[in-house]
Amino acid sequence: HVNTEIASALRGMPIADQATIDRRMIEVDGTPDKSRLGANATVAVSMAALHAAAASSGEPLWRYLTHASHAPIIPMPMIQIFGGGAHAGFRIDIQDFLIIPVGASTFAEAMSMTATVYQAAGSIMRDRGRLHGVADEGGWWPAFESNAEALDTLVEAIERAEFRPGIDVAMAIDVAASQLRRGAKYHLEGADLESEQLIELLIGWCSRYPIISIEDPLAEDDHEGMRSITAKLGGRIQIIGDDYLVTSADRINAASSPGACNAVLIKPNQVGTITETLAAVTAARAAGWSAIVSARSGETEDVTIAHLAVGWGVGQLKVGSITRSERTAKWNEVLRIEEALGPSAKLGGVRR
Ligand code: PGA
Ligand code: ZN
Repeated sequence: HVNTEIASALRGMPIADQATIDRRMIEVDGTPDKSRLGANATVAVSMAALHAAAASSGEPLWRYLTHASHAPIIPMPMIQIFGGGAHAGFRIDIQDFLIIPVGASTFAEAMSMTATVYQAAGSIMRDRGRLHGVADEGGWWPAFESNAEALDTLVEAIERAEFRPGIDVAMAIDVAASQLRRGAKYHLEGADLESEQLIELLIGWCSRYPIISIEDPLAEDDHEGMRSITAKLGGRIQIIGDDYLVTSADRINAASSPGACNAVLIKPNQVGTITETLAAVTAARAAGWSAIVSARSGETEDVTIAHLAVGWGVGQLKVGSITRSERTAKWNEVLRIEEALGPSAKLGGVRR
């Protein structure tokens, strides 16, 4: 599709006119969800046009993007330590157990802190015979008996790395609850829970562990559940919609007034063009929400999202773990951008 239909539709168009290029691909695709040409095809072309425009301006992509929007912000990383759910054979239900090194004052320090916690988690698991291997985003793949064991081990790993849980290093989870849906209930740790029971479980975890962010706490069709948890926890922690919002400005607008979520995960290939990805960021800002640029579980070494996160000034970036080259390529790119910015670099964070 890139070399045939898309190429003939776009040939001769001015490269810097991103919105027109993206609109043309949406027209040529003709479906509401890019299902004919495929969002991976359209997003690749959209990103290529963006890179070409930045290159012809003679600037690095992140700086080219800052002209059109906000001042550059180096994103606070959200990094997977344990992988579970569909990414790790459902050994534990929750998909991501993550850390946010909130005490870091630079991105380089955040990476160093993360590496220390990651290694500490690995050595605790080895000591206890709990190590299975590495899950598909590079986090440890645990042989834990329960989600709480994973949360307890994460706190221990932060402490073994000589950081204070919640002060130097906070925790986050991605429940990816659509994956746990069984009819109107949620299947978790061998039980079938009502929406409100799952919410109570998550509230309990938030009171026992230094969790400052929960992604997809309820399933993508559970609007009432999303409203309920945001009403109960949204005043103190970040409630992120990923599967729930799929980087769609329309869905963000629809979720904003009932107060379902207070943050959105931004994944360019969920929506299929740079223009629509930016529209989702803009909708999040208009709603007073946070935005977190994110990689997918399936990735390449492409580093465009590192530039989007910095150039659009969203403040946070999620890329899986700190191992595997498709992950480290992106973290290393942010390190290089931080070096290029020098002392003027500003590190983002989680609003609370
Ligand atoms: P996906 O998951 O790329 O497999 O959708 C990543 C995430 O949930 O953040
Ligand atoms: Zn997710």
